[in-house]
Amino acid sequence: MKILVIGSGGREHAIAQKFLASPHVTSVFCAPGNPGMALDGIKLVPVTEMAFAGLIDFAKRTKITWTFVGPEQPLLAGIVDAFQAAGLAIFGPNKAAAMIEGSKEFAKQLMIKHQIPTAAYKSFSDYESAWEYVQQQGVPIVIKADGLAAGKGVVVAEELATAQQALKEMLQAKKFGASGQTVVIEEFLTGEEFSLLAFVKEEEVYPMVIAQDHKRAFDHDQGPNTGGMGAYSPVPQISEAEVLQAVETIVQPMARGMVENQTPFTGILYAGLIQTATGPKVIEFNARFGDPETQVILPRLKSDLAAVIDDLLNDRKPTLEWAETCCVGVVLAAAGYPNTYQTGMPLPIFDASVMTYYAGVAEKNEQLVANGGRVLLVAATAESIEAAKLKVEQALQTQKMANYFYRHDIGAKAIQSNEN
Ligand code: AMP
Ligand code: GLY
Repeated sequence: MKILVIGSGGREHAIAQKFLASPHVTSVFCAPGNPGMALDGIKLVPVTEMAFAGLIDFAKRTKITWTFVGPEQPLLAGIVDAFQAAGLAIFGPNKAAAMIEGSKEFAKQLMIKHQIPTAAYKSFSDYESAWEYVQQQGVPIVIKADGLAAGKGVVVAEELATAQQALKEMLQAKKFGASGQTVVIEEFLTGEEFSLLAFVKEEEVYPMVIAQDHKRAFDHDQGPNTGGMGAYSPVPQISEAEVLQAVETIVQPMARGMVENQTPFTGILYAGLIQTATGPKVIEFNARFGDPETQVILPRLKSDLAAVIDDLLNDRKPTLEWAETCCVGVVLAAAGYPNTYQTGMPLPIFDASVMTYYAGVAEKNEQLVANGGRVLLVAATAESIEAAKLKVEQALQTQKMANYFYRHDIGAKAIQSNEN
């Protein structure tokens, strides 16, 4: 098989690398990819992820067996519809099904209809009524821009003033443009967070092992929200029974609900969940693999990922086997991220004791340099989360790195819970 992966981040690096490991795969292309991926033998295609005509042309010329889509933007813009219309095989939800991520309102309506547990909410498009509602509800309260906002459109307000400022920014100053014209105001949930991803083919659901992301920039969940600063898998704080309950009360009913809604979902369905005192509840659905969750989930997949996707695309039942190992991944970010950040720093090079997944990198004078907020992710597997965390830390500590930062507590919660 010849496979094309769409996207350019660490998530796509992990996906493409896993495909390349399959004995059935001769080459893996990534469009546009990043020069760090090339070190692993992934071939870069200089076409951006939104240039559908160019991508279709490449896939036809190169006789790509099928295409796999990493990020949400092309999915929401209809890349799957465009490829299928051109007679090409592609794995991911079409434009209508990707709305599960593209519109919080769409997702909430389906959850209510199918009694899928989620935070109580109301949506607003005018500032006055939104502010009145927030005052009635009190804090803490959660305010979300309705559309895509790269993980930054969510404000967890502990104070009324913070909530008011968020509403002003989204509804009056239009900080998130069209994404913020509607806001969803949500009940604040407390509990352990986890990400439950599944391969979905319409009504069929094949869950993956779970992971936990770390959204805040700094240690101990301080600082601004980011795209994700690190993750680990498994999440021992969540029991097998709780995962099963989440599959049965959330993922399966959602897959069935999408079919019933005439927006059947085929692709990777990502449920962002909180384990509350009354069971798992949905924070958000995404229509794709998570970043950085993928970089710690896929190293635990013993089965051939390319065969799994090929099976799903050809109506065969895939085999999924997971390793008992633990995986920890820590993002190396450019100083300043998620605000204005430095670029152009040389990249640290890690040895084979860890896995390096490249994201925001570019090539300059035949050298890799930092060229994005999240530059790379260092991951390791071991028999415990503690041991995996130690491997990653040792790798990071041996490097002299100016103008970078990373979190030192990825996996710490799991280690603590194991000690109790
Ligand atoms: P999201 O981009 O929707 O994943 O939200 C970013 C982060 O905000 C999540 O990872 C949670 O930590 C937090 N969050 C979102 N919704 C809620 C909620 N209803 N209750 C508590 N925390 C939330
Ligand atoms: N790690 C969160 C996401 O991919 O949306």
